[in-house]
Amino acid sequence: MTSKNIVVLISGNGSNLQAIIDHKTYNYKIICVVSDQEEAYGLSRAKWANIPTQAISSNKFSKKEFDALLLKLLIDLNADLIVLAGFMKILNEDVVNAFNGKIINIHPSLLPKYKGLDTHRKALEAKDKYHGATVHCVTKELDAGPILGQCQLLISKDDTETTLKEKVHQAEHILYPLIIDYICNESISIANNQPQVIQKRKDLQIPIRINL
Ligand code: GRF
Repeated sequence: MTSKNIVVLISGNGSNLQAIIDHKTYNYKIICVVSDQEEAYGLSRAKWANIPTQAISSNKFSKKEFDALLLKLLIDLNADLIVLAGFMKILNEDVVNAFNGKIINIHPSLLPKYKGLDTHRKALEAKDKYHGATVHCVTKELDAGPILGQCQLLISKDDTETTLKEKVHQAEHILYPLIIDYICNESISIANNQPQVIQKRKDLQIPIRINL
């Protein structure tokens, strides 16, 4: 099986990008890291790993121009999979339509709980027993696409927003490369934006669930 080309979109630190770079696999190759922030630390991580980078600075362009530039870049890159890893811009409809079923995101909560921001605070305020991260397909509705995998952890009584964020990050670094690998080795296929398990891996349960 040939390795799949992936593009990773970031806005900041890029610790998930680092986990995706460090994951040992022949199933995917990162052909480009794209950022909407020229100063994103993740761009340095990519450069150290000899991965091409592109920055489309969101504050230099109008929303319409930014969306058009991003769409053109993604069309030119022609990747098999577009991986959002802390990309803070909401993709516009043209991008989502152009790559229907080919875009995935990681979100720091056990979706469908806590879409949007402040997920750690919300989980603490709700006195939840568990928290975690979700990898899902990207659709027009924010954080609502079909779920591919989740990593769940226990919230301890001493947890604060800071400690919980750190724990969820660690969980993400396990979950995200694994799910990307499953997609790229075709153990999971995303048809019409619905995750489907292909026949040869009937042992896989979708969503993939990891308990830490
Ligand atoms: C992660 O918590 C991810 O769930 C969210 O943005 C954060 C990105 O962190 N979408 P990093 O830049 O990968 O360190």
